[in-house]
Amino acid sequence: MTDTDSTKLFEARHLRDVLGNFPTSVVAVTTSDPNDVPVGMVVGSFTSVSLDPPMVSFLVDRSSSTLPKILAAGRFCANALASDQEWLCRQMAKKGADRFTGVQWQQSAHANPILDGVVAWVDCTIDKTVELGDHYLVVGLIGDLNVASVKRPLLFFRGGYGDYTSTAQLLLDSHLRY
Ligand SMILES: Cc1cc2nc3c(=O)[nH]c(=O)nc-3n(C[C@H](O)[C@H](O)[C@H](O)COP(=O)(O)O)c2cc1C
Repeated sequence: MTDTDSTKLFEARHLRDVLGNFPTSVVAVTTSDPNDVPVGMVVGSFTSVSLDPPMVSFLVDRSSSTLPKILAAGRFCANALASDQEWLCRQMAKKGADRFTGVQWQQSAHANPILDGVVAWVDCTIDKTVELGDHYLVVGLIGDLNVASVKRPLLFFRGGYGDYTSTAQLLLDSHLRY
């Protein structure tokens, strides 16, 4: 099937509606420009790739204005946002916004911003980029990584934000009630 055929088969709206049923984690990808100004964007496409060598990846729209900055830096940090950071997600995903207003962060070993209050972070150098349709796959080689808090992750599902609750926690809560 060619690209043209698949475009005819699936309306963009239908693609988005169905694929939105696959829940994703909300990750702020951060880097900095040559003047050490922090740069960031939100992705729902972060995933682990390989254990040996240790690699992760995310996908960026070809039209993203943040992508060239990430590629120019050649490094990024993937920050897993916590369930109390929906405001940060909205700010980091907004075009034209000062995405770091009110955001505290520390510099990683690779000079990327590690955001305060996240669940975990992965600090990378870019290993390769692959053009895939209207997106670029950015593959990072992990230099360092850590769990930053015991908070729960922010999730994205059917166009809305939510909080993760483990089944074990629900069971425990129901038992504690009696
Ligand atoms: C929950 C969520 C997930 C997103 N996932 C992606 C993604 O995987 N790839 C992407 O390119 N943009 C994604 N976006 C959009 C970008 O965060 C943001 O809107 C985009 O970076 C703005 O364009 P810019 O890079 O030109 O500033 C997502 C936005 C939200 C709110």
